[in-house]
Amino acid sequence: MFARFCLVLIVCIFSILAGCTQKPSAKFTIGFSQCTGGDEWRRAMLKGMQRELAFHADVELLYRDAKYDNQKQIAQIRELANSDIDLLIVSPNEDQPITPVVEEIYRLGIPVVVVDRRISSPLYSAFVGGNNGEVGKLAGQYIQMLLKGKGKVIEITGSPKSSPAMDRHNAFLKEIASSPDIEVVTINGEWEKQYARPALLKIIDQHRDVDLIFGHNDRMTVSAYEVCKEKGLLRKVKFVGIDGLAGKTGGLQMVRDSIFKATILYSPGGEEAIRTAMKILTKENYDKETILQTAIIDSSNVHMMKQQTDKILLQQEDIETQQRKIDDQIKIYQNQQMFLYGMSGLLLVTIVAGSLALYSLTENKKINRELKAKNEEILEQRNKVQEMAEKAQEATESKFRFFTNISHEFRTPLTLILAPIEEIVATKKNQASLVKKDLLLIHKNALRLLRLVNQLMDFRKIESGKIMVKATQNDLVALVQETMLPFEIVAKKRSIDFQLITKLSSLPAWIDADMMDTILFNLLSNAFKFTLDKGRIYVYVEQDASGEKAILKVEDTGVGMSEEEAASAFDMFYQGSNASAKGTGLGLPLSQELVELHQGKIFVKSEKYKGTVFTIELPLGKTHFTGENSSAEKPERVLAEHFALQHTEATAVEAAQDIPAFSEQTILIIEDNEDLQFFLKEKLQSTFQITTATDGNAGMKEAFEQIPDLIICDIMLPDTDGLKITTTLKTDIRTSHIPIILLTAKTTVEQQIEGMQTGADVYLTKPFNLQFLQENIRSLLSNRAILKNHYTGEITPNLKTTSRLSKVDKKFVTDFKAIIESRIADPLLTVDYICKELGFSRVQLYRKVKALLGVTINDYIQSIRLNKACHSLQQPGVSVADIAYEVGFSSPAYFSTAFKARYGLSPLEYRNQKYSPQE
Ligand code: FRU
Repeated sequence: MFARFCLVLIVCIFSILAGCTQKPSAKFTIGFSQCTGGDEWRRAMLKGMQRELAFHADVELLYRDAKYDNQKQIAQIRELANSDIDLLIVSPNEDQPITPVVEEIYRLGIPVVVVDRRISSPLYSAFVGGNNGEVGKLAGQYIQMLLKGKGKVIEITGSPKSSPAMDRHNAFLKEIASSPDIEVVTINGEWEKQYARPALLKIIDQHRDVDLIFGHNDRMTVSAYEVCKEKGLLRKVKFVGIDGLAGKTGGLQMVRDSIFKATILYSPGGEEAIRTAMKILTKENYDKETILQTAIIDSSNVHMMKQQTDKILLQQEDIETQQRKIDDQIKIYQNQQMFLYGMSGLLLVTIVAGSLALYSLTENKKINRELKAKNEEILEQRNKVQEMAEKAQEATESKFRFFTNISHEFRTPLTLILAPIEEIVATKKNQASLVKKDLLLIHKNALRLLRLVNQLMDFRKIESGKIMVKATQNDLVALVQETMLPFEIVAKKRSIDFQLITKLSSLPAWIDADMMDTILFNLLSNAFKFTLDKGRIYVYVEQDASGEKAILKVEDTGVGMSEEEAASAFDMFYQGSNASAKGTGLGLPLSQELVELHQGKIFVKSEKYKGTVFTIELPLGKTHFTGENSSAEKPERVLAEHFALQHTEATAVEAAQDIPAFSEQTILIIEDNEDLQFFLKEKLQSTFQITTATDGNAGMKEAFEQIPDLIICDIMLPDTDGLKITTTLKTDIRTSHIPIILLTAKTTVEQQIEGMQTGADVYLTKPFNLQFLQENIRSLLSNRAILKNHYTGEITPNLKTTSRLSKVDKKFVTDFKAIIESRIADPLLTVDYICKELGFSRVQLYRKVKALLGVTINDYIQSIRLNKACHSLQQPGVSVADIAYEVGFSSPAYFSTAFKARYGLSPLEYRNQKYSPQE
């Protein structure tokens, strides 16, 4: 819209400018048809017109010269009329031929001013010119006077068909007739020299007695003068002309120069003609007949006339100069005006262009803003899509994790169900107490599986909308107490401060007791899972200030959650960083769903390493239950009694397990699942010494302190995982030699490879066969024994044979040997010194050396000393006593005893044997 407006504006500006560059259109156009323009008199007439027109800037003059041609003049008049003239000035060549066309134009309504020569019709607007009759009469009178009434006159007329010639001739003859002694010979000079001269030459010789030649204009009279000069008649002949023009060749000059006797003033009247025309055009009063003054100019007045005409001429020149200057000024003014218009136009164009640019800029900005907004929208949408995709991905991953973990969860109870069954089947003795213990374990794990399956089923019901609250009035305090009861045994066993804190003796609430039990059970299970032994779990039952809400809190001093974990605690399938071994991630979302079915709310507040508080807000009364609130199906529950039973029995079974170890081999079990740990301990402790740890850090601490002979380690542990533990232990020189069996529910080949890459010796997946585990333990320990024999069977440990050792262990053996060899001559070389050098404790070094080399440190030192002695003994010239001291024995006697004890020969016997001739 704006662009169109600007376009129109520019077009207008250019139109205006184009208009400015042209002359202002004339208000009036005057056509001027001249019979001839070829002589001074006619030029004077035109000049006079132009001078007068200079006062009328709005008038245009269209000038046509007919060159004495009637037809041409007729055509030119018509052409002028067709050129839309407002007025016609015409000086007719001949009256008869031109009269009709003038009448025609007049009839068209175009005013006609006839000048100089007349037409033979009254149909014209005005006449401006001299009185030719008067001119002829004056000439007649003057010539009579000059010739004193007697003599011969040659009259040279203008064209006889033109009115001035006729009027002048008739009046002249009429006047001269009063002097009968004057003879007049008339010839036709056609107004011009070139006709007058031959006409005169033709008759002059017949009229050599001529006294005076009278020409109808000064031009023809000058030509007569020239002819007479040529004919030698100048002395006698007098000359009289008409017109009396100023200028060098004008009649006035001729009279002044006494060439003419006289000339009769006949004004061209250009100024008067224009004045009359303007009056007509501006509708002013005007004279129809403007007769210009006429007079005789002869020696008596020529001087004065000349002065006047010269003055007039000068004034006219001045006027013309002024006029030119004015014209120049006008031109400058017009140029400046044009320049100004141009500049204004340019300014306007600049303003318009600027406005356009500004408009475009604004539009562009607007478009850019819109584009930016669109872009942001798209970006936002893209981000949303990305976010959704990420969430979907996260959800999928959570689901996968969930199913992996729940599979893991199923595997442990399955192991614990299958293993006792296998054991029962394998045990010949079938002792009653052992069977009972196994059956309890089977029962407990079956219940655990049942609970997992129930939770899954509850979710299915909630998702399909089948589960509904069946609210009845219950005492919330009593219900909480009931649900807490079975946990008290566990709390006692693990020295957890477990209390209900409430000021209320009872709190009536409309709830679905089964659902509430499930909710509380889940929260308590959760608290117990994450609270370390000797921790604290408090349950609060309160009523809010308004009395409209019941508030339930379960507060623990467990491992806590990070902000992110807490925010996702109720997300389906979500499991926090340390939740890998802690459950399915189903309990909390299920509790939330059940709380929300009660129109309640559940929140979590947690701090990493400090603890967690779960808060439930439940509306009291029953107004919030609007629908049927009858449950088509109930949430599946594992009765609290089962929980109590399994814990009671487990404690009982555990109490009975105080069987002392009798084997030398120590096995460290790192397993967080109490049942599995208990099961393994029970099954292995008859053969090995067992130590246990329930998390990775405790396990590693135990490994470094005790340097066990073998470690069984679960991969998924609360704080760190089995893979990290294996890597740490296998790369530490103190523990690198310990065989590690990894237990896990992770079953893919990649996971197994990952396990083996950490340096684990065996990787067993759950559910595993107990016998298979036992075989693996035996095999690993006996392999270690074979290595020991291999290294210690020789007199000295041969490092070339240590290729089966890990790099770390090879380094240990090398370092260990180097320390001993560097101080071999020192009889006081102590275990403490070696421990200090290697950075080991006595126990660690003792157990490491024992495990790797199968000997005590002292035995090993002595074997190196004796081995070196063997080599020295092979060199003659060194005494046995010297050798004894050289290899660090405090006395030669002790050396001999030790040598003999090891090799069955005394040192001397050994030397002699080496150099016996048989060899
Ligand atoms: C000029 C002229 C004048 C004369 C007039 C008569 O063309 O010949 O010399 O007086 O015409 O119309």
